[in-house]
Amino acid sequence: MNSASRVFHLDVGTRPSRQPASPALSGATKRDTHSPGIVAGLLAPHPPHLIYAENHPNNEPRSRGGWEQIRWGYEAVRKRVKEIHKPDVILVHAPHWITAVGHHVNCVENPKGVSVDPIFPHLFRYHYDFKTDVELAEAIVAEGKQQGLTMSAMKHPGMRVDYATIASLHLLNPDWDIPVVSISANNNPYYFADAPLDEMEALGIATRRAIESTGRRAVLAASCSMSHLHWNVEPDLPEDMSFEHAFNDHQHRWDMKFLELVRSGRSDELRRFIPEHIEATAAETKAGSLTWMLSAIGWPRMAGTVHAYGTVIGTGNGLIEWAPEDGGVFHV
Ligand SMILES: [Fe+2]
Repeated sequence: MNSASRVFHLDVGTRPSRQPASPALSGATKRDTHSPGIVAGLLAPHPPHLIYAENHPNNEPRSRGGWEQIRWGYEAVRKRVKEIHKPDVILVHAPHWITAVGHHVNCVENPKGVSVDPIFPHLFRYHYDFKTDVELAEAIVAEGKQQGLTMSAMKHPGMRVDYATIASLHLLNPDWDIPVVSISANNNPYYFADAPLDEMEALGIATRRAIESTGRRAVLAASCSMSHLHWNVEPDLPEDMSFEHAFNDHQHRWDMKFLELVRSGRSDELRRFIPEHIEATAAETKAGSLTWMLSAIGWPRMAGTVHAYGTVIGTGNGLIEWAPEDGGVFHV
């Protein structure tokens, strides 16, 4: 582990339990800051380039920067996570922890190791050391089974955590001082040309029920890009931004249609549009992460906030937040 790396060692379950609001306070404020539930849902893409560009001590390679607008968006979201949402736990569903049989939930109390992007090992070799909210992770396994899903509690401490999980979690909270639950991608677009999203709807419902039954306040992160065609040749300097732009006009236009539905709060249309967008743009949302998250928050008829949109090696990356206006939880 890099000696400059900063990790946290908060014991899950040692936080003071949340007290219900006093009658006087609950009548005086609309902010529901005590009820368990989901306080925010995020589309939080994981290009390793963003961390490479940041020159964070946990990541070995060094850069001259790049992809600033998306990184500034993440800075804004980090601030909201810490100062507004103040979650007990961050949950992430990521496309690159691929499981062929069932949905797996990481139940290892303290995952630690080095996460390497197999495509970009020269950009991402990240030293991680974090705490899992094991009680919630196991509750998701149980609730998933109740929903009829094939579920598995992953308890192998030596399993290397994939770079998508690590990248999104780092980008949302580089302090790593909030416990985590990470969920695998069984909705497997890398094995099947067309992966139906139905199970991701059920996994979202199971996740929400587990969060509520364990009394957590949670931020959910869908770790994926939007349009996903990308260059197969890298410039000599990976962060040379003169090479960075949309893969083509078609990909850009479809991403803008997607964002138009998000920004106008047309969630019913978005739900129907996601499979079309996947087919048109090879979108990474085909791994099911976005459908999982939006199902968990109940496909709310509210506008999502687009904190940033930008391309990374030609792929479209939207950093989007859905959160109740009053700072409370989603009621589904
Ligand atoms: Fe990816």
